[in-house]
Amino acid sequence: MQDKQNQEHTEKNRNYISIAVILLVILLAILAVLVVMQRKDIFGDKYSDVSSGTLDNSGEYYNNNSNSGDGDMDDTGKPATDMQLIKINTDPASYTVLVNEEYPMPADYVPEDLTIPDVRYSYSGVYEKSYMRSAAARAIESMFAEAKKKKKFELKVVSAYRSYARQKVIYENNVKTQGEEKTRMVSAQPGCSEHQTGLAIDVSSDTVKCAINESFASCPEGKWLAKNCQRFGFIIRYPKGKSDVTGYSYEPWHLRYVGVNLAKYIYKKSITLEEYYNTTTTEDIIPEDEFISDVDINAPEEPEMVTAPTPQTAAYTSQTAIPVPEPSDTPEPVQPATQAPARTQKPAEMPKPTKTPKPVKTQKPAKTRKPAKTPVKL
Ligand code: DAL
Ligand code: ZN
Repeated sequence: MQDKQNQEHTEKNRNYISIAVILLVILLAILAVLVVMQRKDIFGDKYSDVSSGTLDNSGEYYNNNSNSGDGDMDDTGKPATDMQLIKINTDPASYTVLVNEEYPMPADYVPEDLTIPDVRYSYSGVYEKSYMRSAAARAIESMFAEAKKKKKFELKVVSAYRSYARQKVIYENNVKTQGEEKTRMVSAQPGCSEHQTGLAIDVSSDTVKCAINESFASCPEGKWLAKNCQRFGFIIRYPKGKSDVTGYSYEPWHLRYVGVNLAKYIYKKSITLEEYYNTTTTEDIIPEDEFISDVDINAPEEPEMVTAPTPQTAAYTSQTAIPVPEPSDTPEPVQPATQAPARTQKPAEMPKPTKTPKPVKTQKPAKTRKPAKTPVKL
C-alpha cells in the first residue's frame, strides 16, 4: 500500500517536471522569436533595401523616393533641414525668371529691349509676336543659322513675345473654343505666360507645316532642337513626362531662353525650371550669363544714338499682314499689323555698355521649400 502511494507520488512529480520543461521550452522559443524580430527591426530594413536608397557621406541612410510622403524629405531625397535653397527669381527682366501660375508676372510688364530676330517666320508681316528680347533674339539667330548651315534645316518662328492683353485674348479664345480644362493644359492665363517675358518662343518647321503640336518632336528639326538648343541658351520648357511639375502638356516647340549656363545645367540634369528652383542649394547656384551679347564684341562701331531706339515697325507697316495659321495649342486671333509693343522710354543717350556687372543675388535663409506646384483649377 505504502509502495503504491510512493509510486503514484513519483509519477505525479514526473508529470509536473515534464510540464515545467515543456513550459520552459515554449518560453525559450517565444524569447528566441522576440530576439530575432528585434534584430530584424534594428538591421533588417536598413540593409535589406539599400539598393533603392542612398548612403550619404556619413553613412546615414536616406530614401531616394521623392514620393515617400516623408515630410522631412524634399525632392532630392536629402533631409530638408540641411538644405539652403536658392531664392526663386521672380524678376521679370531676368533671364532666369520663373514664371508660372504660382509665380505670375505684373500685368504691365513689357521688356525694354524687344527686337525682331533676323530669322524666318511661319507668317508674313510683323506682329507683337514677332518680337523677342535682344539676347534671346541673337541666340535664336545663331541657332537657326547653325541648323541651316550644318543640317540644311529651315526652322521658323511661330510666336514669340506676347503682351498681357494679347495672352488674355488668346486664353479666353481657347476657353471658348476648347473648354477650360483642356485650355489650362496648353495655354497660360494672362500674367502667367513666359511669352510675356520676351524670352519664350514657339518654333516649328515646314516639315510639319509649321504645326505646333507633338509631331514636331518626331521630325528631324524637332529632334535636333531638343538636342542642341541648350548650347544657345534655350531649354524645352515643358518636357515630356513633366506635366505634373510644369502644369502643362508636352510642348516640344516652346523654347525658353535662360542663358547658356543654366540651359546646359538643366539639359544635363533633365530637370525643369521649377525643379531647378526646388532643388538647387546656394552652393550649386548657376550664375546668370553676363548681360552682354558676344555678337557685339567684334561688331563695327555704331553711330552714337541721340534718341531711344524704337521697334522697326515703320519698315513693315506698309506690308499687308497675312493671317497667321493658328497654332493648335494657343490659337491667335488675327490682329492688325503692326503696333510695336509699348515700352518704357530709355534715356536719350545710350552709350554702348562695356560690361554690365552681374546682379548680386540675395541668399534666402534656409527653409523648407514646398514641392513643385500642381496647377490650381479655378
Ligand atoms: N503654351 C504656354 C504654356 C503659354 O501659353 O505660355
Ligand atoms: Zn509657347
